[in-house]
Amino acid sequence: MPITKKTNIAVLCGGISNEREISSRSGKNCFSALDRLGYSNIFLIDVKSIDDLIGLKEKQIEVAFLVTHGKWGEDGAIQGVLEWLRIPYTGSSILGSSISMDKWLTKRIAISSNILTPKALLLTRTNKEVVNAQKLWTELSGNNKAVFVKPKDDGSSVNTFKIKSSEELDYKIKNVDLEESDYLIEEFISGRELTVSILEINNKPTVLPILELKPKNEFYDYQAKYTKGMTEFILPAQIEKNIKEEIEDNSLKLFLNTYCSSFARMDYILYENREPYLLEINSLPGMTDTSDLPAQAKCSGIEYDELVEIILKTARLHK
Ligand SMILES: Nc1ncnc2c1ncn2[C@@H]1O[C@H](COP(=O)(O)OP(=O)(O)OP(=O)(O)O)[C@@H](O)[C@H]1O
Ligand SMILES: [Mg+2]
Repeated sequence: MPITKKTNIAVLCGGISNEREISSRSGKNCFSALDRLGYSNIFLIDVKSIDDLIGLKEKQIEVAFLVTHGKWGEDGAIQGVLEWLRIPYTGSSILGSSISMDKWLTKRIAISSNILTPKALLLTRTNKEVVNAQKLWTELSGNNKAVFVKPKDDGSSVNTFKIKSSEELDYKIKNVDLEESDYLIEEFISGRELTVSILEINNKPTVLPILELKPKNEFYDYQAKYTKGMTEFILPAQIEKNIKEEIEDNSLKLFLNTYCSSFARMDYILYENREPYLLEINSLPGMTDTSDLPAQAKCSGIEYDELVEIILKTARLHK
């Protein structure tokens, strides 16, 4: 069914993940954009329970515009309910969402696609007792003398730590909350922080200008991400042409190999200006005023409202 200005559209945001607040900010922005664009039947819905989703049918919602981040919102869970309800939605399918939400699985796919990604170990309740911090430190810390510890499936740098000694690593292994999530212990790659967005324009996955982020903090943490002035944006990133093309090719390859669709954003660290290491994929990247994707779109001449409309037009069912 073609989307018209009269289509009943629900912007789904908020949710119950650690990224709830960011998602609400994104949701309000997208809702306002749809309003400015002249869509007359739009609803802003904070998804806190299954009833909010079942309620979409009662409201006769015809399309769901997803701005939900993190667990339950970006990992295939909402997507599954929308498939059952037969409501077309923006973003990736159940499978694409759950693969890209899982940083460990994403790394497996990157490796099999010949794309660099930091060496890592998956820490779970099952192996926690047998992981030897000293040995792991020697294996992963290398010349940079640091490792990253981060949840396998969270975002916004929540519970993400840069660890600088084997003692600190030992402490973290014993104290991270593995009931909530498995964790990655990852080789630290020092280099330039790059992010790449792909947007389906007229059914064609298109790479937007690459953005370099220079956080004032030690890494791109929560504060650096969401506080104006805490991160310098360099857009388009100044990188050699052949490296830029390699990153673009890798990103398109990953978009396909992880079953992403509609749009997605991929984070990299560029080591020594020549080796791009993939950190992760976001299948529903942020849409706040300081978010990366809207800035990248703007750099290629696509203003915020137009971006929202392009995303809206990608809404579909996948089953
Ligand atoms: N292996 C690593 N080497 C260097 N820096 C890292 C590494 N892992 C994470 N970081 C730093 O932590 C930030 C957050 O990591 P990552 O992108 O993997 O997780 P995220 O919290 O899911 O991010 P997002 O908010 O983009 O969803 C990175 O942008 C980077 O600054
Ligand atoms: Mg990231």
